[in-house]
Amino acid sequence: MKQPILVTGGAGFIGSNFVLEWAKCYSNEIVNLDKLTYAGNLLNLRSVQERTGYHFVHGDICDRELVLSLLQKHRPAALVHFAAESHVDRSILGPEEFVRTNIHGTFCLLEAARKYYSELKGTEREAFRFLHVSTDEVYGSLSPEDEPFSESTRYSPNSPYSASKAASDHLVRAYHHTYGLPTLITNCSNNYGPYQFPEKLIPLMISNALMARPLPVYGDGLNVRDWLYVIDHCEAIRVVLAKGRPGETYNIGGANERTNLQVVKTICSLLEEIKPQQSRFESLITYVKDRPGHDRRYAIDSRKIQRDLGWSPKETFETGMRKTVLWYLENSSWVKSVTSGSYKKWIADNYQSREAACEA
Ligand code: NAD
Ligand code: TYD
Repeated sequence: MKQPILVTGGAGFIGSNFVLEWAKCYSNEIVNLDKLTYAGNLLNLRSVQERTGYHFVHGDICDRELVLSLLQKHRPAALVHFAAESHVDRSILGPEEFVRTNIHGTFCLLEAARKYYSELKGTEREAFRFLHVSTDEVYGSLSPEDEPFSESTRYSPNSPYSASKAASDHLVRAYHHTYGLPTLITNCSNNYGPYQFPEKLIPLMISNALMARPLPVYGDGLNVRDWLYVIDHCEAIRVVLAKGRPGETYNIGGANERTNLQVVKTICSLLEEIKPQQSRFESLITYVKDRPGHDRRYAIDSRKIQRDLGWSPKETFETGMRKTVLWYLENSSWVKSVTSGSYKKWIADNYQSREAACEA
């Protein structure tokens, strides 16, 4: 791709991996718009900071005029939208920011993109795409015998996070249907890999285990998620951008269904092998009070993207998890830098009440 791209949320977990991978594949201009919330971190992007044509813009996707001015100035061929509040537990304790960023923020981007698109002509107009990065959680919860989510599964979001993502997906769909905006939606399963903020299951468990802290498993630990290595997700997004049909949705998954307990035990056994300690990591597993409304199972049917666009994941759960654990071991200074200050307050807010409730 030769024309610039505009990425939102490119300082977060998936967004920064996407920017880093994009910079390896192409030499075009990358504009990265990010508000730098607790989840955004410029350290992730150190290796592209000096790259010709890389621009970081510190700003909010709810600032419609800023977004429009960036579109008009850089004339990107694509807007790839990652920016969001992304953690289910935070959405339970404070849903308002999820409504603001995920719904209103997406609306602001769509409005700016609609205006920009209306001014485009010829090849620039033909090339433009608005790619909205979404989640499998919009489909709700499966029971063990249900078929995995397909693109035609009815939306049934259960948490404030997934409801806000579902609302944003509907807006994106409507902007295609009503205004002809060339949109693409991807609904992906749980990602893991480098630069994931240690509030999410996998980096939290790695980081707690290394500090010999309890590994807090919600409920019975038998909730199931499908796991995809983040670099595979980034490749899928590039493929959808290049070959996806405007107006379509593509489900992206790793075909790696695991219970949370299996995930935590995998981490423990990798650490046992790579960094053995006197006491076993598994002895740190602690069952704590469950998440309210906790979805039991997610599973993704990604046959459409495989068949129509030729994408499939390269990593297995075992190879991806090994890379991830090694990355966290080799990047302890990154973990340290993101777990100071407000992180400690989050851990206290989310976990103290769970332990207290368990003991009661
Ligand atoms: P993240 O929380 O790690 O990063 C979000 C980024 O968005 C941060 O850099 C943050 O500063 C930025 N941001 C937040 N509010 C903003 C605003 N108002 N304006 C500009 N920037 C803002 O999230 P992630 O895990 O990288 O997820 C990225 C996207 O992928 C999200 O839309 C999420 O819903 C989706 N998704 C995530 C997963 C997953 O497992 N993490 C799976 C499927 C889909
Ligand atoms: P998470 O990484 O928050 O992703 P999501 O809720 O979006 O799937 O959680 C993954 C699973 O791990 C989910 O079933 C909740 C569970 N979990 C725990 O058991 N303990 C924890 O401390 C966390 C953060 C999550």
